[in-house]
Amino acid sequence: MKSIGSGYASGKIILMGEHSVVYGEPAIAFPFSGTGIQATIQANDLESWIESSFFHGPLSKAPNTMRNVTVLLWYLVKHFKIPEPFYLKIDSSIPAERGMGSSAAVAVAITRAVFDWMEEAATQEKVLHFVNQAEAVAHGNPSGIDATTISGTEPILYQKGIGFRPFQLNMDAFLVVADTGVKGQTRKAVKDIAKLMEMRPYETNKQMRSLGKLTAQAQQAILKNRPQILGDCMNQAQGLLRLLGTSNSHLDHLIQTALENQALGAKLTGGGRGGCMIALAENETSGRRLQRILLDAGARNTWIEGLGVYAHV
Ligand code: MEV
Repeated sequence: MKSIGSGYASGKIILMGEHSVVYGEPAIAFPFSGTGIQATIQANDLESWIESSFFHGPLSKAPNTMRNVTVLLWYLVKHFKIPEPFYLKIDSSIPAERGMGSSAAVAVAITRAVFDWMEEAATQEKVLHFVNQAEAVAHGNPSGIDATTISGTEPILYQKGIGFRPFQLNMDAFLVVADTGVKGQTRKAVKDIAKLMEMRPYETNKQMRSLGKLTAQAQQAILKNRPQILGDCMNQAQGLLRLLGTSNSHLDHLIQTALENQALGAKLTGGGRGGCMIALAENETSGRRLQRILLDAGARNTWIEGLGVYAHV
């Protein structure tokens, strides 16, 4: 056992397929290097302690909003017979509750830190074994896409119950990510869609299948390097996501602003009802311009990511 264990996890972006992925449709997502979480763990003197921007204090007093962390730690302690008390430090640059996978990333970073502390190899399969249990507590009925994307290193095509495969996002285009600054409500949105599914099963299922088809079209557009078509798929997906009640005025405003300023397509990303939106830009110059415009329009923060394998910025 080492004296200190450390683990890192990036955030994630869902390009296409949020919400419909919960109902078995495919989704495209990638680990987002623009943001990340570093966790370190070591022995402590008196009591187990958590140090983070959202809570610092004894583990026994951690608030209910941190149940994913406390449940995860319980599983890890039980499995590894970790010596208690311990001191866990979490440094995050992922804005919480913005659809960037901060809860899955916290879980992946902590799990990796514990594996490192215990000097055991943290394979993706082993990490997911622990993280999925914690995510089920945090999200209610997660599809598993967040944890799977974040515990890997590459963009993936994911389908619940089937699994994932690496998927190269090799396209001559740039993705701008903008944070509305408003907390998203993934858990609530997932729950409300489940209610819609009960109340209007035919229509809601049809919308899910349409979202799935759009993801498949987007996949083809990426393979053929056709940014215009991908942008179109994003716009259509946003229309359906709005009908499902997952957008809100903050997202709509930034999406509209992006479309009025030469974005090829724009949509929410993640759980929605706040959180982040993404916009597709033809090249880096127009992406950087979009970043400035979105900030002027009220975005809290923006990032830019090259979608070509050789275009990371
Ligand atoms: C959240 O990042 C993505 C959702 O599809 C929920 C899930 O897949 O668990 C909204």
